[in-house]
Amino acid sequence: MERVYITTPLYYVNAEPHLGHTYTAVVADALKRYFQSIGYEAFLLTGTDEHGDKIAQAAAAAGSTPKEYADRISDLFRSTWDACGIAYDHFLRTTDTYHQEYVQKILQKIYDAGEIYFGEYGGLYCYGCERFYTEKELLDGKCPDHQVAPDYISEKNYFFRMSKYQERLIKEIQNKPNLIRPERYRAEVLAFLREPLEDLCISRPINRLQWGIPLPFDGKYVTYVWFDALLNYVSALNYRGGDSLQNLWPKAQHLIAKDILKPHAIYWPTMLMAAGLPLYDHLNVHGYWVMDSGKMSKSLGNVVRPLEMKARFGMDAFRYFLLREMAFGQDAKFSEEALVTRINADLANNLGNLVSRVLAMQQKYFAGVVQPLASEWAREDLELSAKFAQAEIDLNSYMADLQFHRALESVWSALDYANRYIVQTAPFTLIKDLGKQTRVGEVLHHLLEVVRTLARVLAPFMPDSAAELRGLLNIDLSVLTSRWGEAFSAGHKVNPPKVLFPRIETDTNK
Ligand code: MSP
Repeated sequence: MERVYITTPLYYVNAEPHLGHTYTAVVADALKRYFQSIGYEAFLLTGTDEHGDKIAQAAAAAGSTPKEYADRISDLFRSTWDACGIAYDHFLRTTDTYHQEYVQKILQKIYDAGEIYFGEYGGLYCYGCERFYTEKELLDGKCPDHQVAPDYISEKNYFFRMSKYQERLIKEIQNKPNLIRPERYRAEVLAFLREPLEDLCISRPINRLQWGIPLPFDGKYVTYVWFDALLNYVSALNYRGGDSLQNLWPKAQHLIAKDILKPHAIYWPTMLMAAGLPLYDHLNVHGYWVMDSGKMSKSLGNVVRPLEMKARFGMDAFRYFLLREMAFGQDAKFSEEALVTRINADLANNLGNLVSRVLAMQQKYFAGVVQPLASEWAREDLELSAKFAQAEIDLNSYMADLQFHRALESVWSALDYANRYIVQTAPFTLIKDLGKQTRVGEVLHHLLEVVRTLARVLAPFMPDSAAELRGLLNIDLSVLTSRWGEAFSAGHKVNPPKVLFPRIETDTNK
């Protein structure tokens, strides 16, 4: 069986789950469900990143110890993903003992191999990012993320010989064009690697930071956050035991946003090389969600919370919007107006309406009983099934490139076709002609096949709605993959319609 191992970043516990975190979690979940639907064994890892200055500071500000604080926010992430139906297989916390032990084991291994040395480093340090900046990386002398001037600090620390792996990393990226994707991020990384790579400072003295994993070879230091956090992707599998590490690790597909490209595209692969582990299969990088009002921030009061979205619009509708609106790799704008427009147009008026029309006619004309198909199908019937077969082929090729919005577009283009089919075949008119009832039965049978196909292809994107479609058709999972025209046995009865996606009324669209 083919395997895939999907990961989200480990989210920092200094913020509560918001739109950005949710997007990556939803993409990871949709991808996992998609791979499963095409026969893969899929494993999804998520969790929380809990060490470092930022967390220690946030805990102090909240009047708790770092551990109490991390426990609370980590639980919040986990319960949010549970409520959002994110089907993770393992939730890792960097404070978990097995993870800390694994980090120490790898550090010791790399140290013993002579790939970590003690040295002095002075530079411009941003406490918000927990990293040193070069002059070139600053914007008007300030950290581009935090808009504050970094402090100059100098101290003795441990360094990982990252520079040594520069040529090998360049070759790996060149030899495997989709190792880092989409292309723009691969190009960005290769451009960065045209300059000499520096060694990576991997420690902080304990007198400056206690909230971290102690270095196994020097108790006066703790591990720098990235070295700790990145190893989670492997430590989780190692902890699961069995052949997880061997089988799943080489099939790893990381999902991240562009903010953490450098650690994942440069630090992480070189760390893997030094640890003697294979590289991940793909690093998948998406863009940023931005609000009309600019960057999402607590102070602007524009933070989008997933559970609020779920309560107001339904989780599937929110998922649909996220996956349909953002072209993976590019930034996208979030606004409630755009969300409502999509829900009303694509879900309520198009998908929902088609399903209820078909089921209502089936109920009204045949008391829900599916009618037989003719042995020879009419041209328009063949075209309809061909259109959905093509949509599924297109969907598969877009999914292979993580083009979720295009995958959904393919389905909606087939849906438009199905709506035209209803107009063209006009079952609601034909039914008035007694001699045409058999044809109406056939047309509706084909339309029920449309609904069944939707229940199959939409399941990774909108799992709850797909299950509702199955319920309405009164079929179980095994029938989902039957060939068109072979799913409904004689006398099979489908259920009456129900509203799947209520239209959202707003002041402007009333
Ligand atoms: N802890 C590190 C990651 C360690 S991974 C070994 C970290 N955490 S984070 O909480 O800041 O999460 C960053 C990630 O959250 C992004 O890479 C992305 O997955 C998601 N997003 C946070 N804000 C986002 C947007 N505004 N838009 C899209 N996704 C963003 O970095």
